[in-house]
Amino acid sequence: MKKWLFILTCVTAITSCKKEDEVKCETLSDSPYNLVLPSHFPSIEFPDDNELTEKRVELGRRLFYDTRLSADNTLSCASCHDQLSAFTDNLAIAEGIEGRVGFRNSPTLGNVAYQERLFGEGGVPTLEIQILAPIGDENEFDHDVNIIEADLQADPILNDLSQIAYDRDIDIYAITRAIACFERTMITGGSPYDKHILEEEFLEEDEIAGMELFFSDELACATCHSGHNFTDGGFHNIGLYTTYDDDGRFRITNDEADKGKFKTPSLRNIELTYPYMHNGSIQTLEEVINHFNTGGLSHINQSELVVPLELTALEKSQLLAFLKSLTDTSFITNPDLNPIN
Ligand code: HEC
Ligand code: HEC
Repeated sequence: MKKWLFILTCVTAITSCKKEDEVKCETLSDSPYNLVLPSHFPSIEFPDDNELTEKRVELGRRLFYDTRLSADNTLSCASCHDQLSAFTDNLAIAEGIEGRVGFRNSPTLGNVAYQERLFGEGGVPTLEIQILAPIGDENEFDHDVNIIEADLQADPILNDLSQIAYDRDIDIYAITRAIACFERTMITGGSPYDKHILEEEFLEEDEIAGMELFFSDELACATCHSGHNFTDGGFHNIGLYTTYDDDGRFRITNDEADKGKFKTPSLRNIELTYPYMHNGSIQTLEEVINHFNTGGLSHINQSELVVPLELTALEKSQLLAFLKSLTDTSFITNPDLNPIN
C-alpha cells in the first residue's frame, strides 16, 4: 500500500491512532474496495453510509455463506443463491429450514446492485433492508436477531472485522450493511454477448440472428428486458394465467391494474437460472419462447407488447442461441465470490 494511502486509511479508521499504537493502527485500517465494472456498464451509486471497503466486503462474504443466520444452523444465503447457478437454486419454489416451502422462485443476484426495487412486487427499496426478510421469514431462516448477534459476537474473526469495517461489535446494523456490500460486488458482464458488443464479431451466426430478433420492434423483448442488465426495472403482466394465485405488484399497491404484474427479471445468465417465472412454473427456455410466441392467455392486465409472434422453428432456435450467449462463466467461477475457507 502507498504510504500516504496507509496514513489516510489509518486516520479514517481510528482518529485517535497514536504513534505508540502503530501496529494496532495497521491492523485496524480499512481501505476502499476497488470494484471493477465492465467498460459498457454505468457506474453504481453507493449509499453514503455504506461505501464499499475491503473489510466490509470481506465481512459480507463470510456472512453470506454463514449458516448461523438460520434457526437450525443449516442454511445460509448461498443455500438459495448458489454461485454456480448464478446465485439461484434451480428449484421452482425456494425451500427454507426443515424443507419449508416458500412462495416464490429464487432470483439471480447477478448485477443486483443495479436493481432499484427488490422482490417480485418491488416492495423492498434497498439491499440492506432486504436482508431482514430471509432472517425473519418462517419459510427461510426463521431466526431471532438477538441470538444471531450473540452467536456472531462470540466469533473473534467476525467481531474483529466488524470493528474495523463499522467501528462496532457485530450486530444487525453491521450484518445487513456488510452483506449488502458483498452483494454489490456480484457483477456479471463477461458473456459472449458482452465480448461481441465490445470487440465485435464474437458471436456465431445463429446467435447474431437471435440477437437481431430479440432487439427487433416486432418481438419487443428488449422493450422490457432493456439496458445493460436486460431489465427496465418495471412491472408487467405477461399473460401467464387468466387469474393469478400470486397477485404480484398488487400486493403492495392494492391497485387492480397491478394484478399479475411482476418485476422484469434480468436475462443475464438465464441459461443457468431455470426454472423460470416468479413461481418457477416454466422449466425450459424453449417453453418460455413458446409462451411469448403464442401471445399469452389474455389476462385483463396483460401487456399489449405480448402478442402472437408467429416465429418459425429456425427463429425460435436463433432466439434460444442468443439467450444462451448471455451466460458469463467468469461470473460463476469468480474466486472473489466464493466462500472464504
Ligand atoms: C429459502 C431460500 C432463500 C434464502 C435462504 C435467501 N433467499 Fe434471497 N430470495 C429468495 C426468494 C424466493 C426471493 C424472491 C422473493 C420475492 O420475490 O418475493 C429472494 C430474493 C432476494 C433478493 C431480491 C432480488 C431481486 O432482484 O429482487 C435479494 C437481494 C436476496 N434474495 C438476497 C438474499 C440474501 C442476502 C440472503 C441471506 C441473508 C437470502 N437472500 C436468503 C430465496 C432465498
Ligand atoms: C411486457 C414486457 C415484456 C416483454 C415484451 C417480454 N418480457 Fe420476458 N418477462 C417479463 C416479465 C415481467 C417476466 C417475469 C414474469 C413473471 O415472473 O411472472 C419475464 C420473464 C421472462 C423470462 C424468464 C426469466 C426468469 O428469470 O424467470 C425470459 C427468459 C424472458 N422473459 C424472455 C423474453 C423474451 C425472449 C421476450 C421476447 C420474445 C420477452 N421476454 C418479452 C417482461 C417482458
